[in-house]
Amino acid sequence: MILKDSIIKKCLFPAAGYGTRFLPATKAIPKEMLPILTKPLLQYGVEEAIEAGIDTMAIVTGRGKRAIEDHFDRSYELEHQIYGTSKELLMSEIRSIVNNYTFSYTRQVEMKGLGHAILTGQALIGDEPFAVILADDLCDNDNKSVLTQMIEIHKKYPDCCIVAVEEVPKEDTNKYGVIAGENIEENLIKVNNMVEKPEPKDAPSNLAIIGRYILMPEIFEIIKTTKPGRGGEIQITDALLTLAKQGKVLAYKFDGKRFDCGSIDGFVEATNWFYAKL
Ligand code: UTP
Repeated sequence: MILKDSIIKKCLFPAAGYGTRFLPATKAIPKEMLPILTKPLLQYGVEEAIEAGIDTMAIVTGRGKRAIEDHFDRSYELEHQIYGTSKELLMSEIRSIVNNYTFSYTRQVEMKGLGHAILTGQALIGDEPFAVILADDLCDNDNKSVLTQMIEIHKKYPDCCIVAVEEVPKEDTNKYGVIAGENIEENLIKVNNMVEKPEPKDAPSNLAIIGRYILMPEIFEIIKTTKPGRGGEIQITDALLTLAKQGKVLAYKFDGKRFDCGSIDGFVEATNWFYAKL
């Protein structure tokens, strides 16, 4: 079901990373184009955004990522080839996406981190609140997508940024941005601290940020003044901490399953999960 009255109309998809954990598969194919069954990760993300009432997809790509643009475009020769056959059905979802939604692209020239990738998307987003989906975090909920849940919260707290969080084993905190704060509603936390990839002993909690965000446009100016952090990269977690200190960041414990498809284990788990649902 598509959310009808979403006030968030644009979704940014940072997809410029090198995907080194999937080499050699990602040498010539973007990580976001790796398929779970027959559908690329990025298409799952786009479908989640559409369900949340978003009509404009802003994609940050990089060198060697042209397959992304080709996927969200017509393919006349192929479509002509399968016209009138049962195979046409296999293309119906992607054809409907291409025909009904807007895609815009920009390139991140230097891969300086997720915060930097989001800043690269500023020209595509402009001055309005927007969603961010990291397509390698694949989320599934049959009733209401994770982004739809977050947009509903945004309606109630329109001045706040929202990050999706889930509990992770304490020994895994060094793979994520980790938050701390106080509960203001069931499953909703006002964030007062956030740290990028802390070692378990330094982690303020075991609540990890996953790849879904609602951001206010003021984040762009903050990213511009954010110094490189963990790994020498410009981290969105560091930029958001500035807003968290002003009480403007909420963390939402979402309802649904999340697969870290940037890792081999998560990718296989997601494949098995969706195969079992066929
Ligand atoms: P990851 O931390 O998973 O990095 O990025 P990666 O480069 O994609 O993968 P590995 O670790 O080398 O295997 C999280 C998300 O942020 C995007 C990635 O495309 C991914 O969706 N990203 C990251 C960028 O767009 N630009 C960057 O500079 C870094």
